[in-house]
Order: sequence, then structure tokens, then C-alpha cells
Amino acid sequence: MHADRVAHVFLEVDEANRAAIALYRRLAELLVAPLTVSEVASRTAAVAVEAVGASVCFVHAVDHERGRLTLIGATPPFDSVVGRIQLGLGDGIAGWVAQTGQRAVVPDKWADPRYRYIPELGGEHFTSLVSVPLAREGERTVGVLNVHWRDEVRELDRQAEVIEAAGRFLVGALEHALLIERLAASEAELERFATELIRAQEFERRKIQLDLHDGVAQSLHAASYRLEGLRHRASGDLAEELAAIRTLIRTATDEVNRIVRDPGRQVLEDFGFADALRSLAHAYPSLEVHLDLDVDDVGLLLEPERSLAVVRICQEALNNVVSHAQVSKAELRARRVADMLVVAVRDRGVGFDVETVAPGRLGLASMRERAKLLGGTIEVFSREGGGTLVRLEVPLARVR
Ligand SMILES: Nc1ncnc2c1ncn2[C@@H]1O[C@H](COP(=O)(O)OP(=O)(O)OP(=O)(O)O)[C@@H](O)[C@H]1O
Ligand SMILES: [Mg+2]
Repeated sequence: MHADRVAHVFLEVDEANRAAIALYRRLAELLVAPLTVSEVASRTAAVAVEAVGASVCFVHAVDHERGRLTLIGATPPFDSVVGRIQLGLGDGIAGWVAQTGQRAVVPDKWADPRYRYIPELGGEHFTSLVSVPLAREGERTVGVLNVHWRDEVRELDRQAEVIEAAGRFLVGALEHALLIERLAASEAELERFATELIRAQEFERRKIQLDLHDGVAQSLHAASYRLEGLRHRASGDLAEELAAIRTLIRTATDEVNRIVRDPGRQVLEDFGFADALRSLAHAYPSLEVHLDLDVDDVGLLLEPERSLAVVRICQEALNNVVSHAQVSKAELRARRVADMLVVAVRDRGVGFDVETVAPGRLGLASMRERAKLLGGTIEVFSREGGGTLVRLEVPLARVR
């Protein structure tokens, strides 16, 4: 086609069509950009007002489960009350639209019994309004667009058509943004819940440690003291038997002290994650733990409760090496890999069959439970005679 003919055709597009094209271009822009709920809503409000020459526009999101609407977007100056206005389903004209899925065309809202005055939305300044549902064909309403004019507008049907067309365009973008926001909220909720659980576990553990310290440790101490007195007076088999009992009491005392001392927690609070792992590694007199740590910035990306849960998992794994592996050496590695913390505890001891662990054992089960609470994964590789590897991966907070 010849160039000046193209220009001629373009000029023939009348004013209304050109306005419609401009509107659709702006709507299309809204659809392609990944936006938050409030961005979609406030831009939708601005486009709607401009498209029909109205005074203000309010966008409400509909939550059918809770039976309410929330203002998620508005043109200035009402953008300042976004998030603070809620309506019941069926309440006011927007509530009626949300409930029925039909549009409301209202030349004079003061004459409409459905209208409800909300001081924050400045109803006294506006007269006519059009309210349309944002919904996919045959589906429930996800939002409501409420467009107001200062003065009375008699012929509102054409404006209602335009607003409804814009609404059909936008429903997908709004649904998408709402879904992402709800997912993020429930993810955050789960994370809070997990942190609470970890905190509660630690509280229980602390209580047990204090009970052990005040009760069992004191009794063991008294028993050992009285035994010492007896031993000096005994001879022969009895003296030997008493010495054996004393050794047993010492072992029990050492075990209680180890639990009460809790190297991980105190060092974590005072010096941070890397030092907590170092202190843990040095807490086993019979085990030489080779450390390979590259976790300098992990403390900033992992809450204290979550760091402590990781330390607990390592502690449980090293306890197992001491109790079962029949070796004097182990390795503890921890490093950040992208947005994950990767931790490994390895020994070259007797190993075991992971599939046939006797029921009623708590160590491996509690490691798995903690890893799950952290939103991470844990794998245990072992075979008889071939040593054991415990590998943990925990997601870190995203670096902002
Ligand atoms: N590093 C290891 N080397 C050899 N065997 C292991 C190792 N870790 C675990 N096991 C085996 O797996 C079993 C289960 O371990 P788990 O930690 O669940 O329980 P436990 O250590 O026996 O008891 P606890 O409840 O006190 O931890 C152990 O009894 C042991 O047979
Ligand atoms: Mg164990």
C-alpha cells in the first residue's frame, strides 16, 4: 500500500475509535507487566476514570470465603484509604454487585436503596455511578469496579459497556496478582508457624535441661559422694564392684553434663552460626571432627531459631557417629550454595541399613522432622561397612 494512502486510512479512524485503541493499548500494557495487586488495582482505576471521563474509581477485591470486599485500589485522593475499607458481601452497591455478579447503573445514587454512605470514600461529592463485576464468563466475581461522576449523568449505558469491557480485559491480571499475593501470604504464615514450633521445641528442651541440672545431676553427685565414702571402707570383690558402679555414675554424669551444657545454643547466641558449629565439633572428647565451613553470611540469611535447628540436626548426626559408627573421626561441612545452605556430616565407620532402622529410635526421625520444619530436605546415605553421610539442604532468605 502506498504511504500516503496509509496515512489517509489512519486519519479516517474516528475520534471514538482512536480513544478505544488508546484504552486497549493501556489495558494491554497492564496485562503484560508482572504487577502486584495494588499496582493492578490502582492502574485499573486510573484507566477506567480516563476511559469514560468519570471523577473517581474504586476497585474492590472480593473474598467469598470470608464474605467481604476490600478496597484494593482507587484514584487519588482516595488511594490513601486503600486496604482500610471493607464491606460485607451484599453490603452497599459494590457488595450487591459482588454478590449477584450483575452490573449496577445508577444515575442518582441517593435515590437507590442499595447505596450505603462510607465517609472515607467521600460519597457526598458524587452523584452517578456505575459498578461492574470483574469475573470470568460464568465464574465467581473476583473484584468490583466502582466508577463515580460528580454530577448526574443520564445516559450511562455506553459508559457501563466501556467499563465492563475494560473489566473483562483485566480480570485475568487481577486474579493472577491476587493468587500470587495469597500464596505469598500463606507461605509466610507457614514459615511463622514453623518458627513458632521450633521455638516451642527449644523451650521444652531448655526445661528438660534445667530439670536434669537441678534433679538428676544433683542426685548423681550425691550418690557418687556417698559411694566414695563406702569405697574407702570396702575391700576385695566389694571394692571392685563399687569402683565399677562409680565408673557407671561418672559416665552418666558426663552424659548429663553434656546435655545440660548445650554447646550449640549458647555459642550461637553469643558468636553466631559458624562458631556454634565449631563449638559443637569440639564437644565430643572421643571424636575428632574435621571442619570445612564457608558460612560467613549465613547468619544474616537464617533466623536464630532456624540456625539453632540446623545446629541440632548436626548435633544429632554427630551423636550417632559417637554412639554407633565405631570411628574416632568425622567431617562436618557447611556452605552456602546460591540461596541454599548445604550441610554434610560424614563418617567412615561401620554404617547401617537405612531401610531397616528399628522403630522407636528418635535421632534420625527428629532430624527429618526438623529439616521439614525448615522447609529443607535431608538425605541419609549409608551401607554396612561403608560409612554414613547425612546431607541437609535448607533454603535461605532471599538476598534483597
Ligand atoms: N553414623 C552412624 N553409623 C552407624 N550407624 C548409625 C549411624 N547413625 C545411625 N545409625 C543407626 O541408625 C539407628 C537409628 O539412629 P537414631 O539416631 O534414629 O536412633 P539412636 O541413635 O539409636 O537412638 P536415639 O533416639 O538416642 O538417637 C541407630 O540405632 C544405628 O543403628
Ligand atoms: Mg541417635
